[in-house]
Amino acid sequence: MKNLTRREFINRVSLITGSGYAAMTALGMIPASPARALQAEGKVEEKKHVVILGAGLAGLSAAYELSKLGYQCTILEARSRPGGRIWTIRKGMRESEMDSPEQVCSFDEGQYFNAGATRIPHHHTSVINYCRELGVPLENFNNINEAAYLYSEGKGPLSNKRIRQRELHNDMRGYTSELLAKALDQKALDLPITEEEKQKVVEYLVAEGGLDTSHLYKGSSRRGYTTPPGGGDKPGQPSDIPSLIALIQSGLVDPYFYNIPEYTYEQQTTMLTPVGGMDQITKAFEKKVGKSIQYKAEVKEIRKSGNGVRIVAMGTDNKPKEIVADFCICTLPLTVMSTMETDFSPDILRAIDSIPYNNSCKIGLQFKRRFWEEDDAIFGGISRTNMDITQIVYPSSGYMLAKGVLVGYYNFGRTAERTGNLSLADREKMALEQGGKIHPQYTKEFENSFSLAWQKIKYSQGAWAAYSTEVRQKYYPALLKPDGPIYFAGDHVSYLNAWMAGAFESAWLAVESIHKRARQNVVGVSTGK
Ligand code: FAD
Ligand code: ALA
Repeated sequence: MKNLTRREFINRVSLITGSGYAAMTALGMIPASPARALQAEGKVEEKKHVVILGAGLAGLSAAYELSKLGYQCTILEARSRPGGRIWTIRKGMRESEMDSPEQVCSFDEGQYFNAGATRIPHHHTSVINYCRELGVPLENFNNINEAAYLYSEGKGPLSNKRIRQRELHNDMRGYTSELLAKALDQKALDLPITEEEKQKVVEYLVAEGGLDTSHLYKGSSRRGYTTPPGGGDKPGQPSDIPSLIALIQSGLVDPYFYNIPEYTYEQQTTMLTPVGGMDQITKAFEKKVGKSIQYKAEVKEIRKSGNGVRIVAMGTDNKPKEIVADFCICTLPLTVMSTMETDFSPDILRAIDSIPYNNSCKIGLQFKRRFWEEDDAIFGGISRTNMDITQIVYPSSGYMLAKGVLVGYYNFGRTAERTGNLSLADREKMALEQGGKIHPQYTKEFENSFSLAWQKIKYSQGAWAAYSTEVRQKYYPALLKPDGPIYFAGDHVSYLNAWMAGAFESAWLAVESIHKRARQNVVGVSTGK
């Protein structure tokens, strides 16, 4: 065999494993470029100790970057695992919500769902670069699937039955294009464009909406077939279109069914996810900084002390222990901090008390058979409904395997509050009853479930900060400045809250500020800058 160049070798490994670059970096065969190149600024001259509160992604990445710069780090983590809101539910996992009995996951070996973060936007380079640097292979997360269903509970002619997303999407594109083309044809719109330009817009609408030569929407194969095309004498029969009024009366133009995911910046294709679960990212960080983590160390007090900080945490022996350090990076959720003893400044206390958190619930349902793939040709993607379950998220991996776990609901706000207040058995019942209207196979194929309400999970007590414009203006700026030696990080200290990228970017800012301060040798509680 001829000698391979390094590039050829990587390409060949990629062909075999689908993740050559990540595999090679993990094996140390090629150096990955760092996600954040802070080292360029030089290491800290005098060893400084930074205590990091929380081993979520903000805490883990802060420790990782600080240790590259020569700092000593101690991470205090209340749970017995790292990752915080990165949590992949697998066989044998246990959780007790604040007012519920313990659940033990009884999925089959190898089955899982991501209870927290699931998908990575293709432009969240911080997350993707860490995956590259730490050797975590990524795969496609199928966020958008035109074959998935919409189900509107209501009184219209199309209510209470499932329709494929491609049907509504193409019908609404068709009808709205027709309306606009008609208005342009009739010169009903006073647009500052020439006749020739108007014709161009009409041509665009004809293409966009699939209109006929009279600029009318009469349907097309884009929305699917009643009899699909096939071999021999099967040309295929495109399905009939409902009227615009039927779509409106059936609630299918209500907000639940807007194309929001497809249109938002964060959820446009391509979305990614780690092969084997989101906790692969946490595990990769744990390999790097695991020695600095003290688990089951529940922080109770955060104090400014002399030139540094003094933290009181409960140890595994249930006795308080003190940790003294030069700096602190506090990544605890604001909901958790609100019950702690601290010497925070009034601005920070106000932020903690005033920034609300969203509720969110998920349930993983294990089925004997991947009927959504076998019977309905749905490979990944999300079905949507105005029922409380809100959405059914199909797994984007393990296609064609015998069994599968799908997310039977993923909801927010008041709906999640209602869901979270149900008993575990009633949550499962709701998921099966409502989901069963979309997939009648549920009853026969269901095996077991695992559910969680983030607002009731200890050490999270909420899904993510819910910033309104007003709250952002009034309370957010306080979190961006250190309070003496204490710096704040976590996705709530970013404009990317509810995204892992926010945890990383906020951690980097805290690390950079500490490093700058340590190098300028201006450590001091009073400095605050
Ligand atoms: P956390 O992960 O909350 O870390 C805080 C840590 O502090 C935890 O480990 C916690 O145990 C610890 N802690 C709490 N109290 C104490 C205490 N008293 N003492 C010591 N330690 C304590 N992001 C995406 O990018 N993509 C997604 O698809 C996505 N989906 C999501 C879906 C859901 C349902 C949720 C809840 C979140 C989702 N996110 C998603 C957001 C993402 O999970 C977070 O932005 C990210 O994990 C936050 O990391 P963090 O380190 O800031 O906070
Ligand atoms: N970022 C969170 C999600 O993707 C809210 O669902």
